[in-house]
Amino acid sequence: MDRNIIHQQFLNRFGGAEGSFYMAPGRINLIGEHTDYNGGFVFPGAVSQGIMAEVRPNGTRWVRAYAIDLKHYCEFDIDDDQGPESVHFRYIYGVVRLLMANGVKVEGFDAVYAGDVPIAAGMSSSAALECCFGMALNDLFQGNLDRMQLALIGQAAEHNFVGVKCGIMDQFISMHGRAGSLVCLDCRSGEFEYLPWRPKDYRLVLINSCVKHELVGSPYNDRRNSCERVAQTLGIESLRDCNWDMLNKVKEKVSEEDYMRARYVVGEVDRVMEVKAALQRDDYETVGQQMYLTHEGLSKDYEVSCEEIDFLVDEARRHGVTGSRIMGGGFGGCTINLVRNEIYDSFVTEVPLAFKEKFGVECQVIPVVIGDGAKKLFKI
Ligand code: GLA
Repeated sequence: MDRNIIHQQFLNRFGGAEGSFYMAPGRINLIGEHTDYNGGFVFPGAVSQGIMAEVRPNGTRWVRAYAIDLKHYCEFDIDDDQGPESVHFRYIYGVVRLLMANGVKVEGFDAVYAGDVPIAAGMSSSAALECCFGMALNDLFQGNLDRMQLALIGQAAEHNFVGVKCGIMDQFISMHGRAGSLVCLDCRSGEFEYLPWRPKDYRLVLINSCVKHELVGSPYNDRRNSCERVAQTLGIESLRDCNWDMLNKVKEKVSEEDYMRARYVVGEVDRVMEVKAALQRDDYETVGQQMYLTHEGLSKDYEVSCEEIDFLVDEARRHGVTGSRIMGGGFGGCTINLVRNEIYDSFVTEVPLAFKEKFGVECQVIPVVIGDGAKKLFKI
């Protein structure tokens, strides 16, 4: 993300005075996948990659926005009930409309933005986009909404304007991230705790399979529906409240597929707690074992992995990596790997070679740096 490049484009397109700059990050998630919409716990951290935007009110009712990376320009009237067709700009339109619905007096604005979160890699580039604009417009139009309200607006934009029934994890962490810390969030109560992430002997690294995951109109919503059906059959609010006994009893009453989905979630809710306890005693080996178990569940029961990702996890295991699993919504994207320092270099050198040999395409190594949540950037 280069502020000068953004500003140059801004000047070329719109001229005039400098706008204000905002950024919001993507995220990693140590463990707790597909637990957020089941009322469970998640363990994310913001990353140093994100979306940066220069924004300036333009005194009209029109939004004019240019996405540098996509080379897409879009204009829309904020009072128009339909909004733009392009999915990408619907994230921004959704945020604008929901801010207005929440009483923020949004007016027209010009914006240029760019990012370095890989798109469709499971690192939440869409949440970064929603949160960047939520942050910017709330600030520029004196909305006084707090970070949690802005996160909920981002999530609702995704539900109502894009059609992905996502949980709250991505927008929450994009708003609440803190450099050097992971956050354990209870997605039901909204309570959260920062936990410093400072393993001496280990590092986190992502390997992006570059298989594009597309959550829009995808089986993501089907997974959520399965979970809700099982919870409903059990007469509980969400699978967070389901234990193994309850799950056994409901087995005959739900489809085999719904049962498998629920079995994964019940296990994952427990694993997050195991990991939290393990982290408190610096027991990274247990953290890693739980990550592998998560992957097994996501691959076999939740069925959100793919051949390329399973290969990356197998390779990690073969190299003696402490923990590895698919990260995020699934259907491609990245693995997250907890790697001991002494094998780090060989792992990140050899796995891409093996991947290239097997699939004929490159994967991408992304070292993890835990960064801050959304913010306004001030003049230096
Ligand atoms: C996507 C969603 C999140 C969460 C993850 C899976 O990133 O946006 O809400 O459900 O998938 O853990």
